[in-house]
Amino acid sequence: MTTLSIAFFDAKPYDREFFNRTNADGYGFDIRYFETRLTPDSAALAIGCDAVCVFVNDSVNADVIGSLSKLGVKLIALRCAGYNNVDLSAAYRTINVVRVPEYSPFAVAEHAVALILSLNRKTHKAYARTRDGNFSIGGLMGFDMAGKTAGVIGSGRIGRIAAKILRGFEMNVLIFDPLPNPAFASETGVRYASLDEIYAQSDIISLHCPLNRDTYHLINAGSIAKMKDGVMIINTGRGGLIDAKALIDALKTSKIGAAGLDVYEEESEYFFEDFSTQVLEDDVLARLLTFSNVLLTSHQGFFTREALTNIAKTTLDSVRAFVSGAALKNEICYRCGDGVCRKKKSGRCF
Ligand code: NAI
Repeated sequence: MTTLSIAFFDAKPYDREFFNRTNADGYGFDIRYFETRLTPDSAALAIGCDAVCVFVNDSVNADVIGSLSKLGVKLIALRCAGYNNVDLSAAYRTINVVRVPEYSPFAVAEHAVALILSLNRKTHKAYARTRDGNFSIGGLMGFDMAGKTAGVIGSGRIGRIAAKILRGFEMNVLIFDPLPNPAFASETGVRYASLDEIYAQSDIISLHCPLNRDTYHLINAGSIAKMKDGVMIINTGRGGLIDAKALIDALKTSKIGAAGLDVYEEESEYFFEDFSTQVLEDDVLARLLTFSNVLLTSHQGFFTREALTNIAKTTLDSVRAFVSGAALKNEICYRCGDGVCRKKKSGRCF
């Protein structure tokens, strides 16, 4: 029997470490690692491979899917939860697409809370000061989170954990989701509210919804105008949830008091790479980095040992299921676009 080959794009040393270790544990696939991202130009590297494995900033558009299909690739395995970078309609009936719907929702929720705590108590600034022998505390004042209101947008796996952690700080937590989970609300004391109520009441707003047509630039000049003065915005979802220019305008007027961003709409140009010796050409990103009340991390919310272990295992399990013709439980529904189609609970909605 020939070994199934996987073209693995945007491979980093930590990817190799976790995938090689998992693959050696009874899978035995031929994994061909490529440092380059998947693009229309690099798709040809998948020649001879049955599957490709991609991450958040690989481009899986109609062009790429067409090229992969011509090369005989039959499976696209996303080693991430979000799939906004995939043209699902182009993949329909051509290539199966699977993802890792859950690897460690704790990792991302905890990172969101890390951003909140750092921005509130300014530990990132205190660290730089004390390292420089400056032990003054002027300008580092924060606020008690207890008794304040947090708005969580998206009550899926990550949003629910973030909400629970924030409840642990004795915050009032308002949550919005088009598909509310009343049992979760009654168990945790979180309250479902409209977006407008969240904007009007929240001292901190944390985004945990997917990027789609409804949520693109959810945070824009109009929604920001409805928020409390000095609100803190946290985005560990996807960059496109925020209109970054509107965010900058609101930071300049102090309408927004702080922003913690693990994602950025144009991140694919920069994130995961070292540009420290080069000039940033992206003026919006460069401007964001000038604000002392903006804490930007480079899409590292997922980056824990537990998450990488689960990502490797779930991805290789999906490839194994594909090879054996078993049901692909992590296949993305092409029609409704949902990772786990809610109409049928799993699999496709048609
Ligand atoms: P999930 O699928 O469990 O939950 C998403 C929730 O958002 C669902 O309850 C859904 O009903 C809700 N939703 C859909 N449309 C909405 C809208 N218009 N407004 C508000 N809520 C809406 O997904 P999970 O695992 O909680 O992940 C959330 C997002 O976090 C992912 O879509 C992904 O973009 C991002 N993510 C970021 C990572 C990072 O490293 N920074 C890692 C993993 C995920």
